[in-house]
Amino acid sequence: VTAPGRPPATVVTVYSWSGGTGRTLTVASLGLLLAARGLRVGMLDTDLAAPALHTHFGLAPGDHPLSLADYLFGDTEIEAAAYEVTGAVMPSPGPPGGALLLVPSWVDGADELGHALSRHVDLGLLTDGIDRFAREAALDVVLLDTQNGLNRSAVVALLAADLQLLLVTGSTAELEGMVLIEPLLAGAERVVPVLAAPGRGATAVGAVAGVQVTAALPYATELQRGVHSGQFVQAHPSHPLTARLGELADRIEHRVAAQV
Ligand SMILES: Nc1ncnc2c1ncn2[C@@H]1O[C@H](COP(=O)(O)OP(=O)(O)OP(=O)(O)O)[C@@H](O)[C@H]1O
Ligand SMILES: [Mg+2]
Repeated sequence: VTAPGRPPATVVTVYSWSGGTGRTLTVASLGLLLAARGLRVGMLDTDLAAPALHTHFGLAPGDHPLSLADYLFGDTEIEAAAYEVTGAVMPSPGPPGGALLLVPSWVDGADELGHALSRHVDLGLLTDGIDRFAREAALDVVLLDTQNGLNRSAVVALLAADLQLLLVTGSTAELEGMVLIEPLLAGAERVVPVLAAPGRGATAVGAVAGVQVTAALPYATELQRGVHSGQFVQAHPSHPLTARLGELADRIEHRVAAQV
């Protein structure tokens, strides 16, 4: 993932076997934190089955015609489906160099729904799209939100990753799932297992694919009161959840700095 004169973008995939573990919140929060530190960050919602990342930034299909689905149908280049949400997250002009872009994944209208259900989607295009988005938007970091469980787009997103953030809960079903997807995991250098918030049903879990779980996301009751979670880290700068997400942002920033 290279653009002339700049190092390749670092691709970070946020994945969990179970649903509802906080993947989308994590992507939205890391996007905000990293852009506020002056990085050029792109977020891509690869959860084609139940896209949600756009809702964290106030984007709606009616206002913005293109999405990842249009790119995968071959109807547009991916960069045309990238929307700048920098203004939604930081006061202008923001930190020098910082920017936040989002490629949403909604399917808009009955025609597109019909296409989505009936057309074969070539996920080789997704790999190329991640590369092209990074290059065309001159990104430092690409954050990939994923669909949970075993599915083709999650496989593509995991294989594209320089860093895999795995949100784990320790459930029995998840342990079985992790054995299944282990060949897709990148090993100690690039896998970061993170215990999902206890309120999401998480129990103690020591290691994933041989890599120790060293980070844990605390439960935030604020999120259950309908706070717009895309802006959680801004609304609650000294919350323990914001601190832990900040540490994950540190880890990504170091990885970006090491990219040559
Ligand atoms: N640390 C947390 N504390 C409390 N609630 C949380 C936390 N993280 C996420 N939530 C809440 O849990 C729900 C699921 O979060 P989110 O959508 O980010 O998870 P997900 O893994 O992307 O889910 P899905 O499988 O639906 O894509 C949301 O209502 C969110 O606000
Ligand atoms: Mg999600």
